[in-house]
Amino acid sequence: MCGIIGYVGENQAAPILLEGLSSLEYRGYDSAGIAVFSDNKINIQKAGGRLSVLNQKTDNGKAVTGTVGIGHTRWATHGKPSDTNSHPHLSKSGRFAVVHNGIIENYIPLKNKLIEKGFEFVSETDTEVIAHLFEYYYKTDIVEAAIKVIGHVKGSYALGVLCSDYPDRFIAVRKASPMIVGLGENENYIASDVTAILSHTRKVYYLEDDEVVVLKKDSVKIYNIDKDEVKKQAFTVDWDVSAAEKGGYEHFMMKEMEEEPTAFMNTISPRIKNGRIVLDDISLTEEYIKNINKIFIIACGSAYHVGMVGKYLIEKTCRIPVEAVLASEFRYCDPIVTPNDLCIIISQSGETADTLAALKEAKALGAKTLSIVNVVGSSIANLSDDCIYTWAGPEIAVATTKAYSTQLAVMYLINIYFAEKLGTITPEQYSSLVAELQKVPDMIAGILAQKDKMQYCASKFYNCHSIFFIGRNIDYAVALEGSLKLKEISYIHSEAYAAGELKHGTISLIENGTLVIALATGKMLYDKTLSNVKEVKARGAVVLGVTTADMPDKEDLGDYLIELPDVNEMFLPSLTVVPLQLFSYYVASLKGCDIDKPRNLAKSVTVE
Ligand code: F6R
Repeated sequence: MCGIIGYVGENQAAPILLEGLSSLEYRGYDSAGIAVFSDNKINIQKAGGRLSVLNQKTDNGKAVTGTVGIGHTRWATHGKPSDTNSHPHLSKSGRFAVVHNGIIENYIPLKNKLIEKGFEFVSETDTEVIAHLFEYYYKTDIVEAAIKVIGHVKGSYALGVLCSDYPDRFIAVRKASPMIVGLGENENYIASDVTAILSHTRKVYYLEDDEVVVLKKDSVKIYNIDKDEVKKQAFTVDWDVSAAEKGGYEHFMMKEMEEEPTAFMNTISPRIKNGRIVLDDISLTEEYIKNINKIFIIACGSAYHVGMVGKYLIEKTCRIPVEAVLASEFRYCDPIVTPNDLCIIISQSGETADTLAALKEAKALGAKTLSIVNVVGSSIANLSDDCIYTWAGPEIAVATTKAYSTQLAVMYLINIYFAEKLGTITPEQYSSLVAELQKVPDMIAGILAQKDKMQYCASKFYNCHSIFFIGRNIDYAVALEGSLKLKEISYIHSEAYAAGELKHGTISLIENGTLVIALATGKMLYDKTLSNVKEVKARGAVVLGVTTADMPDKEDLGDYLIELPDVNEMFLPSLTVVPLQLFSYYVASLKGCDIDKPRNLAKSVTVE
């Protein structure tokens, strides 16, 4: 998705903007641009393609002088990737330059109105409407112009705006699209993502919807829609700068997989005190938990797959009905949600448009909402009734690994916590689960230490055209994640199937040499999955089996076998997923794919 950075201070803006944009590259983009006040004029430089083209064009920013500016990486939605469509966009007279993340839903009627008023459009974007609207409503006060503009546009936006009448400042606004303000010494920033400014400051303001902020080098003023000044509390971001750097690794994805044990431990350890799970972050009382009618777990992509794991776990352990729902479906399926239902919302970024909208829908229906979020202060975290943060640190690779792992960790905490309150586990089971949970990080580390096994498997199969993942129950939920990981970074077609379902149609795709990755970690269902493995082998499949080291008859499972340490079955997804992540990584690497920035994908999906 698009990225924004803005700077005002005493240093040259362009190199800072370009550096900030480079740390936003991971979000996915296809063109980039900057606008800087140079000699009381707005100097705009933009270029299609990679940021390196813009760097070259501007001599790494040195060719653009000035200490106030805004920058943008664009991920095309309205109009193809091109120099003309890339941001910043200028208003008719050149007085305003605008960068925009999000989508202006009513841009066509606004554009028609502006054309009638004599405005000419040069790009195909929805953003150009904003630049012209600023000019249309502007008298002498940019905050008033901004309030008028936001009163007329519908959709989502994070905006950075320069006005040539005020070369000592710029303004920013947001609605349903992330934007933070970074506070420095004689310099201030805006950014769509904290990683863009982390090397300069950790002190930030989180903006609410439709707040307008005016940034000068020595002041930051925030106004609400009535133009009243709003006082805000500054937060300190405790993410480590090095966490957003590659630190010697070839790819962020490998670095982030290696960080899984620490991220998992950081997520659980502050919430376990003297052998007991303490969820200070949430306000759910024992009485409330006992009266929950149904749980919905709502999310997208990998976060939804965590929801699938959660469904199997909570139903089994707590005996509460759970429905895992894709956020994009939940919004439009007229869901039957009652005030006694709990909606658990999962999101790494906390900004995914569909998930955010589903959260609003759940609240409107009267349900209590509990979010599991990685980015502190993000929209989903702010809007939900309760939030449990995952302490994964910044996740840069588009394909999630460590955030997925920490979301599972929170799911286990919730499951054990609820089960104890409900009395569906004994005190002895509770103590043993809490003790075993704390051993999971070391077990993950042990699997990562044997990554050469997965490298070897990848070397055997990286030329496959199609790969199937099968599993039952929780293994099916993990199969969904393994398959998604593989297809998103290696571009190999892949499907995940509930092992017993394959023979109802999809087995027709199995032919000589097709790779089937069979997950069979649950003892109760091992024999059932083994039968499904035999079915595919009889049709020529090669099978890579994943099971636990103590499983009887494990050798029958596959032509290749990955053995996991023995642990309480509740926690197995955290182990099973690791070889699958590694396999995808090595397959993509052998195929020469752009692992951290797979084609067509964006890290944070802030459009519907
Ligand atoms: C896949 C992946 C995506 C995200 C999904 C939700 O590797 O990362 O499927 O899980 O886009 O994103 P968040 O968790 O930010 O809401």
